[in-house]
Amino acid sequence: MRRRVLGLVTALALGAGMLGCAKIGSFMRPLTYGPNFDYITKEQLKSVMWQLARDVNRIDALVNDPAGVGPAQRDEIARLLVIMEDATGRLGREGIRTNHPLVDEHRDQFRADLAAARRGVSAEPPSYTLTREVSGACLHCHRHGTR
Ligand code: HEC
Repeated sequence: MRRRVLGLVTALALGAGMLGCAKIGSFMRPLTYGPNFDYITKEQLKSVMWQLARDVNRIDALVNDPAGVGPAQRDEIARLLVIMEDATGRLGREGIRTNHPLVDEHRDQFRADLAAARRGVSAEPPSYTLTREVSGACLHCHRHGTR
């Protein structure tokens, strides 16, 4: 019943051409899932993941540079770790369930790992041990390369 109503609303909205897709999305989601549920679209998840992949690759390159990690590289690593932390904010609010059980289960640990790595980078003297392991933190959700 609810589904049918939503379908009708969507059809009307599309027919009238008054609402953009984003608007329909934000209109429907609270109705479907309620305020204590964060719906993450496939596109949203993918775009976060590809951003994380790009950032973690860059971090790996910086931290393993045979020439060593200079002040400029150190700044860039710290910045990238913050960007990655921010990106996880697009995987739903902390403590709120999403449509991805895997995300629910591991997101907070992943964020904690990023934060710990960042603290190491800003320490005096800096420590890059945890930063070197950040790509391993992807394995919370991507175990054995099966996902
Ligand atoms: C909190 C859980 C979680 C963490 C941590 C995580 N991922 Fe993902 N990742 C997912 C889920 C869920 C998917 C979607 C898998 C599916 O569709 O079956 C995904 C998919 C991907 C994809 C494929 C995207 C596409 O276009 O299909 C890439 C690439 C990826 N992740 C890279 C990474 C990298 C790199 C890291 C670490 C920096 C990482 N992920 C950390 C949960 C996570």
